[in-house]
Amino acid sequence: MKRKQGKTTIRQMEIDDISAVYHLGEKLFTSEELPILYRTWDPYEVTDYFSSDPDYCLVAEVDGKVGGFILANTIIKEATAWKRYGYLSWIGVDEAFQRTGLGLRLYRELEERFRKEGVRMIIADTETENEEAIAFFKTIGFSPARRHVWLAKNLRRSANTDSRKARESRNKPESGKI
Ligand SMILES: CC(C)(COP(=O)(O)OP(=O)(O)OC[C@H]1O[C@@H](n2cnc3c(N)ncnc32)[C@H](O)[C@@H]1OP(=O)(O)O)[C@@H](O)C(=O)NCCC(=O)NCCS
Repeated sequence: MKRKQGKTTIRQMEIDDISAVYHLGEKLFTSEELPILYRTWDPYEVTDYFSSDPDYCLVAEVDGKVGGFILANTIIKEATAWKRYGYLSWIGVDEAFQRTGLGLRLYRELEERFRKEGVRMIIADTETENEEAIAFFKTIGFSPARRHVWLAKNLRRSANTDSRKARESRNKPESGKI
């Protein structure tokens, strides 16, 4: 159910927002719906972006709580014509506030900051199945540029690892029997 939006501010992320941003991402990037984003979202994503490019880490504060966020950075490629690129890595809006324009407001603030830094192209990516996000990106002016394929390989536990673990647990003294 969409909640009625209260007082909303778009502002730069602060250290006290780190936990709220991480947990909001956990709610949005679920293993069922967005398996790749789920696997790559962890607390270090938030702390790394926040410590390396804080100017491009924004939150939407709704009635004093984090209702959305953007984590982005800039990439400088000296030898290229446009030199400075913006990379929008993560964007998320609490389901309760989706389709109320929060994502758009976060993005506009980011774009403004990128423009001031001389960014000429902004890159974003998401999973092919993430149709909602793709619709959002198209609305804000992005167009699919290239297909990017994620590959994954499951590593089976080797027989050696299993037998070593079994040996270790056999040799481990039971509690109170040292
Ligand atoms: C993608 C996301 C950030 C959009 O945020 P939002 O606050 O709901 O977007 P807005 O309300 O600002 O939408 C702006 C416009 O984008 C388009 N749009 C947004 N969500 C859409 C959807 N689910 N379906 C179709 N169009 C959509 C619409 O044109 C919308 O304008 P409208 O509501 O007037 O029609 C949000 O859906 C989200 O958090 N998704 C889960 C996380 C995610 O997948 N992030 C992207 C990968 S990192």
